Amino acid sequence: MKIIKVTDNKEAGKVVSDLILKEVKSKSNIVLGLATGSSPITTYENIISKSKEENIDWSNVTTFNLDEYKGLESTHNQSYRYFMNDKLFNHINIKMENTFVPSGMINSNEEAQKYDELILKHGGIDLQLLGLGINGHVGFNEPGSDFEGLTSIVDLTKSTIEANSRFFDNEKDVPTKAISMGLKSIMNAKKIILIATGEAKALAVKNLIEGPISKDWPCSVLLNHSDITVVIDNEASKLLK
Ligand code: GLP
Repeated sequence: MKIIKVTDNKEAGKVVSDLILKEVKSKSNIVLGLATGSSPITTYENIISKSKEENIDWSNVTTFNLDEYKGLESTHNQSYRYFMNDKLFNHINIKMENTFVPSGMINSNEEAQKYDELILKHGGIDLQLLGLGINGHVGFNEPGSDFEGLTSIVDLTKSTIEANSRFFDNEKDVPTKAISMGLKSIMNAKKIILIATGEAKALAVKNLIEGPISKDWPCSVLLNHSDITVVIDNEASKLLK
């Protein structure tokens, strides 16, 4: 595990966008795994501005997002599809048909796992970007998730619903389920970059970096990945030995 320490999320955005753009420039048909949440927003902002400045071509890039709220149509302003279009896809020359986000409208795990088949059909994910939940979730793989899990319909924990309620008018509006790539789907990526910033992430970061590998902290499975870079700021590093 490679660790990059930065001062804050703004700097994380610069560092991570540089890492991603380096990969995009060296492989024009790269398959990227992308994440939502507040952590990657500065990364996407930098990707947009540098892509404009340097005329970076996204027309052959394919992306797969980690997760989507169950029951939200792609047009819902809190859906992760909406977030990705708004925060990134609408501002670079990527082809919308090459961007994949799990559908929030599916009703079975059989349908959900077609997402893993689609990823495989595209040759697998070259570079997966991750955020980190306060309780150590990655994607929407909550504590107790199966390390061997593929894309499936998952229940959100009370703490995740509470944490994400800040984006909704009312906590009651936050979906209680999601469709998420599984920990195995994530671990299959050839390379991973995880961003964790802010004090609220400090305990999850400690478990991610120091272990032990345990289902109580889903992020800890990432210790087994052979090519992962973790970008953390001062506040998120507070509890590290
Ligand atoms: C959400 C997403 C995750 C994300 C995490 C952290 O629930 N499903 O993919 O990494 O929460 O979010 P944030 O970056 O806003 O702290």
